[in-house]
Formats: sequence, structure tokens, C-alpha cells
Amino acid sequence: MKSYNIALLPGDGTGPEVIREGVKVLDAACSAHDIKLNYTEYDFGGDRYLRTGETIPDSAVEDLKGFDAIFLGAIGHPDVKPGILEVGILLKVRFALDQYINLRPVKLYPNVDTPLKDKGPEHIDFVVVRENTGGIYAGEGKADDVGTEKEVAIQVMEYSRPVVDRCVRYAYNYTRKRNRKNMCTLVHKCNVLTHVGDLWVRSHKEIGDAEFPDIKQDYNHVDACTMWMVKTPEYYDVIVTANLFGDIITDLGAMIQGGMGIAAGGNINPEGVSMFEPIGGSAPKYTGTNTINPFASICAGGMMLETLGEDKAARAIDKAVYDALASGKIKSMSAGCMGISTQEAGDLIADLVVLS
Ligand code: IPM
Ligand code: MN
Repeated sequence: MKSYNIALLPGDGTGPEVIREGVKVLDAACSAHDIKLNYTEYDFGGDRYLRTGETIPDSAVEDLKGFDAIFLGAIGHPDVKPGILEVGILLKVRFALDQYINLRPVKLYPNVDTPLKDKGPEHIDFVVVRENTGGIYAGEGKADDVGTEKEVAIQVMEYSRPVVDRCVRYAYNYTRKRNRKNMCTLVHKCNVLTHVGDLWVRSHKEIGDAEFPDIKQDYNHVDACTMWMVKTPEYYDVIVTANLFGDIITDLGAMIQGGMGIAAGGNINPEGVSMFEPIGGSAPKYTGTNTINPFASICAGGMMLETLGEDKAARAIDKAVYDALASGKIKSMSAGCMGISTQEAGDLIADLVVLS
């Protein structure tokens, strides 16, 4: 039997509720595939910060490096000033563990409402590979003469060739493994960001030409990409893009796949420890109501198994999610409107996963 050590960070608000269902489904899938997950729980998040003034200590970040993967609920607390927990926990872990890929599938499951008219599951199924540790998120910044008429603020978008190359290479490999349309679209803004954009364009072309002749190369400006994601999402297979662009287009992606209730992501270090999360926030107003949608967390669990190399168990989770939605028992993806409780949704998928 294979076993993996998983760090659980349930976090704030409804995070613990969705993590509970995620773990329920993971355990069902794993026991059906002769895998054992050993969990160690950490309480980092808003409550702990308000109690102790600590976001996540360096020693805990070191501890996290010893796990096989990290499963995160949500970070964000109404009594904590925006930015403190996001930067102090989420970004700190991403950077410290060099999770340089943010993998965000945009997939519409059956019976899930999309705001796009005349589009169905056959049209919305692509993956965004977002660079996750560089660019404007990590560049230098400063503000001078704050509050005066002369105020100037600077935030630098900086990319080195190796940081771009490793992301682009990951995206091509992922495109090949996915084996759908075999097309890797670079999304950037090279018509304006002439230096950084040009670096991405050359990396994408040179790596594509040299190592991935079987993969079609494609390029969209980021503004046009948001247009095509709405008009012809069926065009896309794999998108690779810089950190900030990826952040923005994946929120759009989450909406067209049915909302934050179903949008999952992985912060991946292909050579190290990766962290998986539902990409919606902590939704504090639903805390303890047993009405939050656990699908995103369950899908994030499936991505975790895929990244650990447990493809069969991962596929079983994806199929169970598919079957649960195809059953028509879930009325809506929105919190409070599912028609069944958080716990019942988890039970339903856990039962189906054993049959998959
Ligand atoms: C995300 C979030 C984070 C980001 C924030 C909370 C720092 O929006 O995971 O997409 O910008 O990366
Ligand atoms: Mn975001």
C-alpha cells in the first residue's frame, strides 16, 4: 500500500467545512485504490493571527517542505485587514516552496449553469497554466511622496529566462500529457510590454520548436483572450501565461465553468511540494451553515492525487464529481442554493467514488 503525508490547512471561514468533505472523498477514493493518506493539521489563518499576531512562522514553512502535498481550505478573515493573510500565508508558502505553477482547469460539468449563452460542457474544457512565483507579484516596488501631489508608485514586472522557460516547458508537457487539441496558447501583452512580452514569446517559440514539434503553438494578447474565453471558449486547450494575467483570466474562467463553488487549483512545484486549494475565498457569511459548496475542494483533492501520480484514484474522483452532477441532485453551484447540504454533497460523491 502506498502512503502519503498530507498537511491540512483548513484555514478560515468555510475552509474547514469544505476541507472535511474533500478529505472524506479523498479517503474513499484512496481506500478503493490501496492508498493511505496520513494527515497533519495546522491552524494557520485569521483566527490564529488575531490570537497570536502570527501568520505562518518560518519553522512551519520548513515543516511543510517535509510533506508529500498540502491541502488548503481558504484564507481570509473579515476582521483582518486585506493583504495580511494573503501575503503572509498564501503567497509566502507559494514562494518559499517554489510552487512556480498555478494549474487551473476550466471545465464545465453537466447540469452546471454557465453564464455563457449556448455553451455546454463540450465547449468549456481547457486548462490555464499560470506562472505562480514571479512577475509583478515578486518584482521590486516602492512609493515616494505618498499622499502628496508628487506621489509616484512603482511595481516592477520582472521575469528571467529560466523562470519563464520552466513554466513554458511545464505547459507544453501538460498539453502533451492531456492529449486533446495539442495546442498551447501563450497569453501575454507583447504589443505593449515589449521587453517582458518578447521574452515570453521567444521562450514559447524556441522551446516549442526544439522540444515539442508535436504541439501547436498559438498566441493571444490577454485582452483578446478575455474576449475569446467568453465568445469561443472551445478554441482553447492549454493556456500558459504570466502571474498577474493568469490571476485575472482564471477568475473569468471560474465564472464560465459555473462559479467559485467548482473552481479548483494547484500551486505546483513539479520537483517539490505542491499545494491544492478551492480557489474561492473563505465565504465567512456561510460559516457553519452546512450550505457551502464543497465541489471545488473535492476537485482540488483530485488534482492533488493526479500530481502525486495516482492517476487512477484521481480519475475516480473526477468521474464521481461528473456522475454526482449528472444525477441532477445538485440544484445550483452557489452556496446556500445547492438543494442539499455540504455534508450530503460530500457523502454523495464519496459513495460514487467507490463505484468509479
Ligand atoms: C488567487 C488569489 C491570490 C492571488 C491572492 C489572494 C493573493 O487571488 O489565488 O488567485 O492573487 O494569487
Ligand atoms: Mn485570484
